[in-house]
Amino acid sequence: MEKIIINGGNRLTGEVEISGAKNAVVAIIPATILAEDVCRIENIPNISDVSAMIKILRRLGAEVKMINKNTLEIDTSHIRSNVVEHDMSKLLRASYYFIGALLGRFHHAKVAMPGGCCFGVRPIDQHIKGFEAIGATVSIEENAMVDARADKLLGTSVYFDVVSVGATINLMLAAVKAKGLTIIENAAKEPHIVDLANFLNSMGADIRGAGTDVIKIRGVDKLHGCEYAIIPDQIEAGTYMVAAAATQGDVLIKNVIPKHLESISAKLIESGAVVEEFDDSVRVFADCRPNHCSIKTMPHPGFPTDMQPQFAVLLSIARGNSMVSESVWDNRFRYVEQLTRMGAKIIVDGKSAFIEGVDRLKGAPVKADDLRAGAAMIIAGLISTGTTEIEEIHHIQRGYDNIIEKMRSLGADIELRVEPGDEKSVLSVG
Ligand code: EPU
Repeated sequence: MEKIIINGGNRLTGEVEISGAKNAVVAIIPATILAEDVCRIENIPNISDVSAMIKILRRLGAEVKMINKNTLEIDTSHIRSNVVEHDMSKLLRASYYFIGALLGRFHHAKVAMPGGCCFGVRPIDQHIKGFEAIGATVSIEENAMVDARADKLLGTSVYFDVVSVGATINLMLAAVKAKGLTIIENAAKEPHIVDLANFLNSMGADIRGAGTDVIKIRGVDKLHGCEYAIIPDQIEAGTYMVAAAATQGDVLIKNVIPKHLESISAKLIESGAVVEEFDDSVRVFADCRPNHCSIKTMPHPGFPTDMQPQFAVLLSIARGNSMVSESVWDNRFRYVEQLTRMGAKIIVDGKSAFIEGVDRLKGAPVKADDLRAGAAMIIAGLISTGTTEIEEIHHIQRGYDNIIEKMRSLGADIELRVEPGDEKSVLSVG
């Protein structure tokens, strides 16, 4: 078993470089299927979700080459299969983007229901609504295989009942080669939606409005290969920002798009940290215990749900009482049980958590319940007295490129411990 061991108490200082965005790359890799050509993609993060995506593409028949540490060349011209079985789809949530991409290319996709972090029920009714609107018939078959097929895909107007990142992306993938105009209303506006639209447009698509709540897709007959660089990861950047403030450190976070970080910066400033913005970096420093404040998660440009656990750690040592309201997921407070083991005082009531700030947390054996919960445990370990041991760190490896080395370079006392007999965790996407 692998564990992360942290001896808390060190301030984080120095500079850290942010990697490519997980939630963009997991949409862009399946999108290459639509090119039927060679795509070269730079700024690929070294995370296990990318390794899983590559495995699935290779199983479908694509040729995937690692050109260097952060560049992939993907040739999807020889893909013949349109089936993603359960053993592959369970590896990550974003495996459902193969439904949109394969439907768009072959007009028929069979993809097993996806895996991913568990935040309560994660329905895909809006994805299905989108596919059906443009002419597909969708059924859930034995072994939870989603079968989506169409004689032809025809553009139309689709209004999503909830703002969904996944449904917006999946419909963009399926509609990019449909006949006529597809209009997505009440679309998600996250930075990764814009990144996917930019990627598809560089393959010859005609997509406008990404980043607003109305996206217009004029179908094209054919797409082609392209060169593209993934945007920096908003949530990885936010995680280091919160870690800097929580440890009363001083960190320059490089290779970011400060505009994507505004909601996080605003809350950090409210909590008493100083945030300085530059063209493609932000500096976060703090020299005292955080002030209490309240956060409510919302779709972009609101405060991101994927920063909620990390920010709750900061608030757990704030002066005074704070409230965290989760409005995206039904159940995203599982990590609270772990934090209370470390001395945090948090009461969860439905989709809200009431936090009474304590002077300090105390190191303890804990586990990463999911990806962002795992990042929260790391921040908690950094600000605790004594030693924290985090188990189930495979969740963290899904979305944080080289987090142990990056934290160490900032002065954290953190290491990976591999129990005898276990292979060392090397996140190779080669
Ligand atoms: N929803 C529906 N029906 C649907 C789809 C979604 O009711 O068909 C609901 C969900 O139950 C949820 C809300 O809509 O209450 C938002 O879900 P969304 O579809 O936006 O989430 P997702 O696409 O499954 C992505 C990210 C998550 C992030 C959410 C919200 C990826 C691969 N995952 O999930 O990221 O929390 O958007 O921003 O992009 C993470 O990176 O740690 C992570 C969990």
